[in-house]
Amino acid sequence: MEKLSFSQQTRQCAEYILEAASVVVLSGAGLSTNAGIPDFRGPRGIYRRLDIPEPKKIFERDFFDEDPSLFFRFYRDFLKELSDISPTYTHFFLAALEQKGKVGGIITQNIDSLHQKAGSRKVYEIHGGVHHTHCTSCNKEYSLSEATKKIVHEEIPRCYQCNGVLKPDIVFFGESVKNLGLCEKLAEKSDLFFVLGSSLTVTPAAFLPSLCRGKVVVINQGDVSTSYLEPQKISLLVDAELDSFFREVHRELQIRGLSLEIQDNFTSPENT
Ligand code: OAD
Ligand code: ZN
Repeated sequence: MEKLSFSQQTRQCAEYILEAASVVVLSGAGLSTNAGIPDFRGPRGIYRRLDIPEPKKIFERDFFDEDPSLFFRFYRDFLKELSDISPTYTHFFLAALEQKGKVGGIITQNIDSLHQKAGSRKVYEIHGGVHHTHCTSCNKEYSLSEATKKIVHEEIPRCYQCNGVLKPDIVFFGESVKNLGLCEKLAEKSDLFFVLGSSLTVTPAAFLPSLCRGKVVVINQGDVSTSYLEPQKISLLVDAELDSFFREVHRELQIRGLSLEIQDNFTSPENT
């Protein structure tokens, strides 16, 4: 693939957006780092920072069933962080693009609800989300606020009804992902597929971009696995910081007559 400069890449990306009828996005943890949530495998990611021998285990279902306390130590802090964070420029950019009728859907591996907070409506949380929690014994459902109260006060939150351990409806390793059929259909119908801030290492999400019959654009700072997406399927591969990239893409879109109403009220590394 020809090596393009940053401005050639932003121009190319803007042109792809203008030509597209159905943009589908697969977002990963890199999209939310500017909001203050660490990613998993980046240089300051959760898997490098957690002071435990095999950090990935905290998201393994078997390990949770043996000892859920380690997961809840992580999750308690995560819920606290969630209550006062705002979406990033890129989240708002995508919401504004949806307003223009360009977006077929946003498939997110993230559980932080930031796409919804930014105003996106067609959001598919393939790894689940924090909105619902259930009892692993009797299946009683708990709302986010009910579950949060318990998680804050109990080391291992337990069911009112049967004393079973509660578990949020987020997808662990060893469990099925959510909405897979729907996400596959979206990917197949898309003519422009963005992979944003994901190392593309976790399947089945990592298989989705290869289903697109149009252009695949990957924007990620750092390495992206090509195990599930052949390099020749990628029309544009950008190693850049997402918010800086999409600010520039928006300028290019404006020059070409597409102005998005982007709610830009957050602080990015660019303007700190
Ligand atoms: P990863 O942490 O694997 O990848 C995030 C990527 O984003 C890394 O390559 C970072 O370098 C990059 N990145 C970070 N900040 C960025 C920024 N501002 N601009 C551009 N790139 C940036 O996260 P995911 O691919 O989302 O699953 O991980 C997939 C799944 O693995 C997660 O959903 C989670 C995890 O285990 C489960 O827990 C089931
Ligand atoms: Zn119960």
